[in-house]
Amino acid sequence: MHQADQTQHYDAVAATWGRRVVRLGYRAAYEGVMTKAVRGQSPRSVADIGTGTGELARAFCTRVGRPERLVLVDASALMLAKAKANLSGLAGGVSAHCARLEDLGPIPPVELVLAGHVIEQTRDPVATLSLLSELVEPGGHLLAIISRPHWCQWPIWFLWRHKWFSSSKIAGMARSASLCPPLIFPLGPGPPGRTSLAYLFLKPHEKTEIKP
Ligand SMILES: C[S@@+](CC[C@H](N)C(=O)[O-])C[C@H]1O[C@@H](n2cnc3c(N)ncnc32)[C@H](O)[C@@H]1O
Repeated sequence: MHQADQTQHYDAVAATWGRRVVRLGYRAAYEGVMTKAVRGQSPRSVADIGTGTGELARAFCTRVGRPERLVLVDASALMLAKAKANLSGLAGGVSAHCARLEDLGPIPPVELVLAGHVIEQTRDPVATLSLLSELVEPGGHLLAIISRPHWCQWPIWFLWRHKWFSSSKIAGMARSASLCPPLIFPLGPGPPGRTSLAYLFLKPHEKTEIKP
């Protein structure tokens, strides 16, 4: 799908996206993953890239804590407006950027980058993973929710023309993006578990060697 068409498509569903996310169980699944994957860490700076209505950032704020700095990025202005409204009061300083990740100017790196169903929407997912990695401070993490192989991707594909990946493919992509092999978390029962897996990637300090 052409990028401009995709953004228009997201603008068109922004008003109802939040309700759909709750009804299909993604809110509960994101909260569960946040508790398991980010447990024991308390990153003060967080960015949610392709934030949509801010559901993944919301799960962070409600389950892990209130970040001092929260950066929201989305190509769709209407999705981003919903995210800002949904996250008001849940974080310290919130900055919102209406941009594609590929066109985002430099921003100070953060301790935790969130990306829910974003890399599979882009033309070059390995390049996208590298761009996400560049936003993470060395020693910080990227938590990405990524579509996995399942027959139910096909009806979704007719709407969104997205991609999906096996866990071994994602591990290879992580190496190309200079990220450590990810820890993998299921998203529980129902649609979230059937469609997606959560991957927690560590960005190593520069001198750390990434083993295959
Ligand atoms: C499937 S929605 C997911 C929203 C949210 N992360 C969630 O998990 O509920 C994908 C979102 O990413 C945005 N998006 C897709 N590609 C993007 C890119 N390259 N840069 C920034 N935003 C992007 C879309 O506008 C849309 O709001």
